[in-house]
Amino acid sequence: MTTVTPGAPLRTTSVGTAHTRIEGRDKVTGAARYAGEVPFADLAYGWLVLSTVARGRIRALDTEPVLAMPGVLAVLDHRNAPRVETGYTGLLGKPDPTCAVFQHDRVPHLGWPVALVVAETSEQAREAAEALVVHYEQEPHDVGFGGEHPDAYPADGFMPAVTEKGDLDAALASSAVVVDAEYTTPEEHHNPMEPHATTARWDGGRLELIDSNQGATWVVGELANLFSLDPASIRVRSEHVGGGFGSKGVRAHQVAAVMATTVLQRPVRVVLTRRQMFSLAGYRSPTSQRVRLGADADGRLRALEHRSLSLSSTVYEFIEPSAAVARVMYDAEAHHTANRIVRLDVPTPTWMRAPGEAPGSFALEAALDELAEKCGLDPIELRLRNEPDKGPVSGLPFAGRNLPACFREGARRFGWADRDPRPGVRRDGRWLLGTGTAAASFHAGAAPSTATATAHPDGTFTVRISAADIGTGARTALTLVAADALQVPPDRVQVRIGDSDFGPAMIAGGSMGTRSWSWAVQIAAGELLERLALGADIPPEGITVRSDTAAAIGALTPAERHSFGAQFAEVAVDVATGEVRVRRMLGIFAAGRIVNPLTARGQFLGGMIWGISMALHEEAVRDRASGGHVGADLAGYHVATHADVPRIEADWIDDPDPADPVGIKGIGEIGIVGAAAALANAVWHATGVRHRSLPIRPDRVLSAPAGAPDA
Ligand code: MOS
Repeated sequence: MTTVTPGAPLRTTSVGTAHTRIEGRDKVTGAARYAGEVPFADLAYGWLVLSTVARGRIRALDTEPVLAMPGVLAVLDHRNAPRVETGYTGLLGKPDPTCAVFQHDRVPHLGWPVALVVAETSEQAREAAEALVVHYEQEPHDVGFGGEHPDAYPADGFMPAVTEKGDLDAALASSAVVVDAEYTTPEEHHNPMEPHATTARWDGGRLELIDSNQGATWVVGELANLFSLDPASIRVRSEHVGGGFGSKGVRAHQVAAVMATTVLQRPVRVVLTRRQMFSLAGYRSPTSQRVRLGADADGRLRALEHRSLSLSSTVYEFIEPSAAVARVMYDAEAHHTANRIVRLDVPTPTWMRAPGEAPGSFALEAALDELAEKCGLDPIELRLRNEPDKGPVSGLPFAGRNLPACFREGARRFGWADRDPRPGVRRDGRWLLGTGTAAASFHAGAAPSTATATAHPDGTFTVRISAADIGTGARTALTLVAADALQVPPDRVQVRIGDSDFGPAMIAGGSMGTRSWSWAVQIAAGELLERLALGADIPPEGITVRSDTAAAIGALTPAERHSFGAQFAEVAVDVATGEVRVRRMLGIFAAGRIVNPLTARGQFLGGMIWGISMALHEEAVRDRASGGHVGADLAGYHVATHADVPRIEADWIDDPDPADPVGIKGIGEIGIVGAAAALANAVWHATGVRHRSLPIRPDRVLSAPAGAPDA
């Protein structure tokens, strides 16, 4: 029997307290199965063959000898693969044929899938795929990204390309202090620990995928469109996902696997290699950004221009909206922002943690630091003087903007008050020392989701929602939310996720997953409690109620809704070797109610560590001659590892969102925002040199030693 007292005050005893991951033991003991390792009888293995030229046409594929190799079952290519629909409108309001493989003979970039070899074992499939000879008609390609590409144009993406208010030239001309600087960031890759993997099969007239993704019902929707299927005839399950960061939607390997299982009528598994992920998983476009700031002598902004160029493929127009961060952060009487792209013969980029804000905040927050230097102002004081009272572009009120509180708390804990503003004057042996800071923001939103809550006769509950836990701790967070909503301890609630049959729900993306899902869980659980309060007996199958948050979310009043944060960093720079070492970092965030402090801290720290990686290590280098990557693996592509990560702390101030039933805003992406700028600003403070191109590699430090002109 449940023990519900009607009218009892809502307890929040679980939300806000630290809980280890519910599936943690399964993960560390290997009991948790991932998409590439769930056992299946009669499983066949597909291996993708990727193009070795950057542009052209497939003239021929020598499939005969490959089909004769041991264990080989089929070779799918553009001549024999099932047709798919590509004209449907995707998530961003326009068709995206990036994953519509084997539909034509054109090769739009190096690493484009040209065939899938299916065999009895993974080894046989790989052997045969590597033996497949493909003949191309090669065409000249262009993979050269730079600041002044003649084919660049403004592109909207999920926001307007251009915003303009006021006379920029006049405002700059009347400014006492002007900063005009160009910043660049390189191509960056998500590299989740678990490679993309899927296992597809037809089961009793239903298409089933065990899949590594960020949203099971999202994958269902895309596959239903591509293969012209009823969404109800597709089931996608993703119990455990080893990271996504924006890269795990529907990609070529799932489409190829569905084609293969349809042709062979056997379960087919396709797993990407780390190397294949560099061309098939999406990535963050490089950016070239120009920021112009004009201010009065006291630091108050009169002019702000932020222009960003990113790239996309010839297949699909994906935009990294780096200039948009300025639309939220700072106002000026003349305020211009523009996101432009150039289409090149490269793979299609995609969302990567804080798309837009991550590279955009590097440029904008570094430019603010340059302005502070020119004004002779403390960088925090400069930001406080430029706190807008409404959205600089939207004119909408801020639904909470606790950025000043983050800076105050961060400055206190970091020891900012004692900082000598002069650059290049602190030494510790061979190291030059410096500190830097930067602001962070990320959109806080919620998207419609559905959930069910079931009361069982034994006093336990089951909550079902097709959420994805991509390593964030979402399953655990939802359990705490459900427990409080049901007014029981968390061990009485089982939360089941990662199954599209649980109904439509938001993806794990846009920092909106846990908030969107919690909303649906809270409503379902609340309504279940009301039902139980009526005193009905619970039948053996339980009592289930279903929620849908579409109406409630649609009723939110328009406002600028964001999480905010203040990043602090201390670096040591050895100008003899060019090495930059991070000594400590602190991030203070105002990011809504924190559901599980343990996993939330991990989220923030993960973002900040990625900021270290972005500032100092990450860079995918493309060879202009071949059009492919140099070192497309974790040996050639450097990411921050343990030895690179210093004393690092993340904390938050109390900032519950009154518009959210649980008070959540979202914490997935903000940890990386501003982190690279804080580090670059610290490198300037250490050396006196502005590094405006990431990563700040040893060779860049060496070619611009302390006292030299800026890099
Ligand atoms: Mo995140 S880039 O919205 O997965």
